[in-house]
Amino acid sequence: DWKMDAFVEHTVKEIREKVGNGRVLLALSGGVDSSVAAGLLSRAIGKQLTCVFVDHGLLRKDEGDEVENVFGPNGQFDLNFIRVNAQERYYKKLAGVTEPEAKRKIIGEEFIRIFEEEAKKIGAVDFLAQGTIYPDVVESGLGGESAVIKSHHNVGGLPDFVDFKEIIEPLRDLFKDEVRKAGLELGIPEKLVFRQPFPGPGLGIRIIGEVNAEKVRIVQDADYIYRDEVDKAAEAYKKEHGTAPAWMPNQYFAALTNMRSVGVMGDERTYDYAVALRAVNTIDFMTAESAEIPFAVLQTVMSRIINEVRGVNRVFYDLTSKPPGTIEFE
Ligand code: XMP
Repeated sequence: DWKMDAFVEHTVKEIREKVGNGRVLLALSGGVDSSVAAGLLSRAIGKQLTCVFVDHGLLRKDEGDEVENVFGPNGQFDLNFIRVNAQERYYKKLAGVTEPEAKRKIIGEEFIRIFEEEAKKIGAVDFLAQGTIYPDVVESGLGGESAVIKSHHNVGGLPDFVDFKEIIEPLRDLFKDEVRKAGLELGIPEKLVFRQPFPGPGLGIRIIGEVNAEKVRIVQDADYIYRDEVDKAAEAYKKEHGTAPAWMPNQYFAALTNMRSVGVMGDERTYDYAVALRAVNTIDFMTAESAEIPFAVLQTVMSRIINEVRGVNRVFYDLTSKPPGTIEFE
């Protein structure tokens, strides 16, 4: 893509001019925006960039390692990569907390605290980089819908807890599809570039009620199976028809309800959790319809989850539109 090629070249030049031999700090979440920002900055200034990646233990299955494989010392980018394994710390903070906004608040605040600790270790930097993209600029100006209904910790003001001189936002003029193109141009793996939206508080808001390590394991494993089967079915459809199926959801994931119910496994009575499958078709994530995933696919997912994920004996499919439902569960 010549346009993106030009954008990358031009932006790399701009970053070099602005940063000089200064140091830049970036909070890398593993999402599309911060990853592309990291790729761009790395190309421009190499090891003058330090990325801090906080694994809060609420990521999807294997996701922390995937981020490390791309941006860590064995990856393809020249930068300093710091991974903070804060799983236990988060689970401790979240123990006994059931109220959705309280959970969001803890997850957001803990991130700030950890980032602050890491920033202190690194010492003063010249620039704080952010993966802000054009829609963020517009949305936060208008007080975007979700920001009002749920607190989004990753769309906000400038962090005042890091010692830096200036902010640097290399993706500020790009729309999401342009960010993805830039990502491909930079050689970021497709899996990362085309990944679904994933909320900052992660699985913390896909586990209804209290969060703990056991529930995280359950929802990670169920979600992995669900995405695997949906992707396989979509791939098969594409092979046969040359296009993606009409039901292909824009976002699909498993959540863990806080409900346990009686079931039977062999001759044993079980009393286990119910997993909810969510899949939506949406243009802007402000409104959404439940996606019509073929029943056979859902049945395969159900039987794999019941058989492969210990602690689950029931699977529900969420038919709710947004509104009145939200896409996430909390
Ligand atoms: P809801 O649940 O509000 O979600 O219908 C709409 C879209 O926003 C995502 N979402 C978040 N994204 N931080 C984020 O970065 C958050 O706190 C957050 N909460 C929801 C959600 O995944 C969906 O795509």
